[in-house]
Amino acid sequence: MPDIDTAASKDYGIGIPYQSQGFHVKGSDHYDWGMKSRLSRIFQPKSGRTLMLAFDHGYFLGPTSGLERLDLNIPPLVPYIDVLMGTRGALRTCISPATSGDKAIALRCSSGSSVLEEDLSNECVSVDIQDAIRMNADCMALQVFIGAPHQKQTIENLSIAVNEGMKVGMPTMGVVAVGKTMERTPQYFRLATRMIAEFGAQIVKTYYCDDFETVTASCPVPIVIAGGKKLPEPEALTMCYRAISEGAAGVDMGRNIFQADHPIAMVQAVRGIVHDNLTDKQALELYKDLKK
Ligand code: R5P
Repeated sequence: MPDIDTAASKDYGIGIPYQSQGFHVKGSDHYDWGMKSRLSRIFQPKSGRTLMLAFDHGYFLGPTSGLERLDLNIPPLVPYIDVLMGTRGALRTCISPATSGDKAIALRCSSGSSVLEEDLSNECVSVDIQDAIRMNADCMALQVFIGAPHQKQTIENLSIAVNEGMKVGMPTMGVVAVGKTMERTPQYFRLATRMIAEFGAQIVKTYYCDDFETVTASCPVPIVIAGGKKLPEPEALTMCYRAISEGAAGVDMGRNIFQADHPIAMVQAVRGIVHDNLTDKQALELYKDLKK
């Protein structure tokens, strides 16, 4: 029986910088030019970080609050972000390639379940590499449900994307998915993020948790955090600040931006933390100023 991961039993080298060999994206020193070019569109070379806007909720939730009209809700936020994370249907119908051409695309490429189902893990690969290329995607995003009934199937989905992406230099972002009944402990997130990185994903998306620095330290590729359910703006900014301070390479935030009282002010406050090293308090002041 392999040993069970507990923070107390491991030395994560907290405080020792990742041993980079030159490229600004963790774990990607040895990739080819095209892969690094796409990663550099996602992770800004100056800060090494990224601000992704997640608006892929409709693929299993339908018209989520704040995303009732993608054509109205998303374009005003685009100037302030680095990456649009959405489905091909949302992008093709509601986002202009002309006005978002300098933004990277994280294309949602797995689906198969809906909020009506108990088990959300029964997913497939829903976009092939040819269409991802046609969409000019900079990475493919797929859910991986570690510990759920269809774990193996979702690992196979991720592996298809990684294998196809490697052929053309397109990164894959593995998204740690937590089913309705799954626990959100540091131990779980260390397990899931490390597994996804070792399957070959170049980016991992997960949730913020206690002992988060042990999650980022033990994952050999960059981690971006999802925002999760809507929080009061000060709490969302504090979560964002802590995640970045504890090693996240960015955020892929949705509801805490587009459901904020003032989404355009909120996205700029989050950007201040991600790229300009603002503290949560400074970002909150910025938010208050901008929403006046
Ligand atoms: C992850 O499972 C999906 O990409 C979600 O739609 C996305 O992560 C949600 O973002 P947020 O939790 O920040 O609203």
